[in-house]
Amino acid sequence: MLYDRFRKKESLNGEWHYAVDQYDTCISAKWYEEQYYDEGGNTLPVDYSFDEWETMTLPCCWNMVDKSYLLYEGSMIFTRKFLYAKQNEKERMILKIGAANYLCRIFINKKFVGMHKGGSTPCYFDITDYLEHSNRILIQVDSTRRDEQVPPAVTDWFNYGGIYRDIDLFRVPDIYIRNFRIALEPDGSFHRIRVGVEMSAPVTDTAVVTIDELGIHREIAVKDGVGEVVFEASPILWSPENPKLYTVCVSCAKDAVTDRVGFREIRVKGMDIVLNGKPVFLRGISCHEDSFTDGKAVSDEERIENIKNAKELGCNFMRVAHYPHSERMAQLADEMGLLLWEEIPVYWQVHFASEETYQDAENQLKELITRDYNRASVIIWSVGNENDDTDDRLSFMGRLAACAHSMDPTRMVSAACLVNFEKNAIEDRLEEKLDIIGLNEYCGWYTADLKMLPELFANSNPKKPVIITEFGADAYAGLRGTITDKGTEDCQAFVYEQQIANIRKISYIKGMTPWILNDFRCPRRTSSTQRYFNTKGLLSSDHKHRKMAFYVLQEFYRSMEGSEE
Ligand code: GCU
Repeated sequence: MLYDRFRKKESLNGEWHYAVDQYDTCISAKWYEEQYYDEGGNTLPVDYSFDEWETMTLPCCWNMVDKSYLLYEGSMIFTRKFLYAKQNEKERMILKIGAANYLCRIFINKKFVGMHKGGSTPCYFDITDYLEHSNRILIQVDSTRRDEQVPPAVTDWFNYGGIYRDIDLFRVPDIYIRNFRIALEPDGSFHRIRVGVEMSAPVTDTAVVTIDELGIHREIAVKDGVGEVVFEASPILWSPENPKLYTVCVSCAKDAVTDRVGFREIRVKGMDIVLNGKPVFLRGISCHEDSFTDGKAVSDEERIENIKNAKELGCNFMRVAHYPHSERMAQLADEMGLLLWEEIPVYWQVHFASEETYQDAENQLKELITRDYNRASVIIWSVGNENDDTDDRLSFMGRLAACAHSMDPTRMVSAACLVNFEKNAIEDRLEEKLDIIGLNEYCGWYTADLKMLPELFANSNPKKPVIITEFGADAYAGLRGTITDKGTEDCQAFVYEQQIANIRKISYIKGMTPWILNDFRCPRRTSSTQRYFNTKGLLSSDHKHRKMAFYVLQEFYRSMEGSEE
């Protein structure tokens, strides 16, 4: 992971030649070596013609750009050429792939550069030593679902394939700032800022951090490539109501980086979630990274629309499920004022006994925390969703929670847990590893009997704040009927009314993120009213239609806004 925000990028987005490679022949037959002749100079038959292949405009999800690829899962090969001219003797050239689902292998000028696993976090490669003046880059992307991966083969969302976030090059000095972290110290003073710097080499040097608007200009002693400083300052505190951002610059050696940062403190105090010293109720909504037209390659316009719709609902919070969304989401939430729950896809039936699977999960968690550490909007790291309470799962997700706590003492750690159905109670051994308990309960839907809801809450005695991370019901946009007609807006609205009527009475519930803002593509949902979409959205999949339940939730959140100090 590398800090790259606001670095000058040279984009490789655009037309790439591509081929569907169902049998991974590019890897097995080493197409990337481009062996056109044998030792005797005789031409060899080859089964590819890179620059005569059709082209696809990247970034994108291949499922959405060509109907014949809608359901294709497997490998595709992407290749293009680009020119490189060194600008100064010692520069390094970094390749960044914003995200490729699920794994990608990179080759430059016939040589293997590296591989990345994990479909929702960026990867970076120093490609300096591979470069010539004219270069060929070739990327194999494999979207195959596998049970040993994170997420495993079965999820409740569509498995889009492709390189679906930006592909960039950027130049750095030979010794550069690999990463920098900044946050308000979580000590209740709102007056101390910690800055950490990590250089690309174990150098001893002095870094400088400046925040002009706060009159800050502080040196950071760097030893063995790392340095840290804590200093006093009086920032205007960031909040959803006042998303104040400051320009922070950090320089060291011949490098300098910038960020736009909000300063806020989030903590749990007893049974309260406390933002900048004040208890807050997290008025949220869940959201997938899923565009009706572009799949996971969601545009900024659509992200901004989702945030605006959430704020229109009266939200101060959003659960961006079930995997890391684009870094643009947290950057926009910083600017527009929305608190975020971010999550790694430790989803349903994960191979909890597998160390290889654990390493995949931990790597994605570390990449997410490193990527979004400086984002004020992000307040909760979630280590998973809806996993049975087994010993292996407790060990696996307990390790992840410990990893998140050790990497980032400034945020809360949670997970979306299941109801203990034997006891109809909130009771999960993972709770002791978490700061906040997330709970998915579908009373009125999968648990048809709504009487179970008050009993669930009465049977429970959680020792930490609870966020209801999912409740909801399917509703086909525009379909009307009675409150018992499953799939109608009336039924969905009734479920929301009943859920809210119960939740609002429970003092240990400090937030909720009903499932879900928008209908989204899902291969498991095939009824006549779903048609391969999960229709629990409050808006239709094209976001054009607001269902009745949108207004039920909006009325509740608006009433809460008024009651907050
Ligand atoms: C589950 C799961 C979601 C899923 C939802 C549903 O709780 O967490 O990913 O889409 O319920 O059944 O619609």
